[in-house]
Amino acid sequence: MGQGEEAPAQTTQETRLAALCQGFQEKFSQAPQFVSRAPGRVNLIGEHTDYNGGFVFPVAINRTVLMAVTGPEEGAAPGQVRIFSKDYDREVTFNFNNLEKAPEAERWTNYVRGVAWALSQRGLLDPGKLPGARIMLESDVPQGAGLSSSAALEIATALALFQLAGISDVAIDRPKVALACQLAENRFVGANTGIMDQFISALGQPDSALLIDTRSLEYRAVPLGFAGRGLKLVAVNSAVPHRHDTGGYNQRRAECEEAAKFMAKVYGKPEDSQLRDFTLEQLLGVQGRLAPVPFKRARHVITEDARTLKAVEILGRGFSHESDLTTFGRLLRESHESMRFDFEITVPEIDLLVNLAWNQPGVIGARMTGGGFGGCTVNVVEETALDAFSKNVWQKYRQETGLDAKMYVFDAVEGGTIIA
Ligand code: GLA
Repeated sequence: MGQGEEAPAQTTQETRLAALCQGFQEKFSQAPQFVSRAPGRVNLIGEHTDYNGGFVFPVAINRTVLMAVTGPEEGAAPGQVRIFSKDYDREVTFNFNNLEKAPEAERWTNYVRGVAWALSQRGLLDPGKLPGARIMLESDVPQGAGLSSSAALEIATALALFQLAGISDVAIDRPKVALACQLAENRFVGANTGIMDQFISALGQPDSALLIDTRSLEYRAVPLGFAGRGLKLVAVNSAVPHRHDTGGYNQRRAECEEAAKFMAKVYGKPEDSQLRDFTLEQLLGVQGRLAPVPFKRARHVITEDARTLKAVEILGRGFSHESDLTTFGRLLRESHESMRFDFEITVPEIDLLVNLAWNQPGVIGARMTGGGFGGCTVNVVEETALDAFSKNVWQKYRQETGLDAKMYVFDAVEGGTIIA
């Protein structure tokens, strides 16, 4: 294993589960009834397209939230929830009958409260009818790394609540659950994010990326086939933390809407049109009339949708044409440059990481992944080049920034599950 590289998470899942169940037993003097698990994600390509009605192509990763659950203790108030986070070593109590936002120190519980609230808003489940719960949670999805630790927590919560309510997995409409979890994120937590993260955490498939049409919510699993080709999916964490509920993300969203509104007027389309509804030619047709910033934002989104569909086509045919790997790498690079210059959501450390990657032998492609302003890069790397990649990128990054980059080699796994 190279410098800065972490132990593969896959081998630790069993260990984590055993430790969680043991911790649960010690704390609540009984074994959990079940454990729900939901993964984080990396997005291969298709960034900031999901709130513009466009396409995304994420992978559910073998980094997960685990949530051990049982009913309330005898004599507890109806609807009482005791939730203990192993990561924060903190317990918080709230009630399903009174789903208010948590004070700042208990902010992490908003994802759980918010999902209970949103499932009820959407008519999918009535948390008021649940007797209550005792919950212990633990996560190995790095936080603030742009790997969707919060979406994983939301999906794990939703699945746990359905299980508590006795609603079987087959009866759960997962796209609707993902939408409810997005509502929790948007309205309860206050980050105006799209549907990608919750969707992939709920519906990811092993060894595959998911092409998601974020407007129709149609989706298709595309096998990665990386193992057969000697390729690895690697994320590199810049150690520059990111957060969505600060201004940058919401501002980009507003700028995209401004561009779509402007073009809708010019081209006589419905007022609620999204950037998905316009071609690059149409955008170029308003250049000079649409303000430069929304113009650039729209150019990123429209070209990113095209790159995403092209990447899906290439991966879908198993890189079978001679130049496919090169083209795939070029698409990732163009995506990054578009995020850097047109969408302006990269930071110097992230640009440095992708530059270092592009200059390493055996790197098929690299770009920033996720919402931006820090977080991780995603890299497709030849297995034989992996050690040199992690050593060199880590060292050079450290030399230039003083920061320790972390490397994660990911497998694509299935979306949320209940472990009985
Ligand atoms: C965050 C959001 C997603 C998506 C990405 C950018 O991860 O949660 O909805 O917008 O940023 O592609």
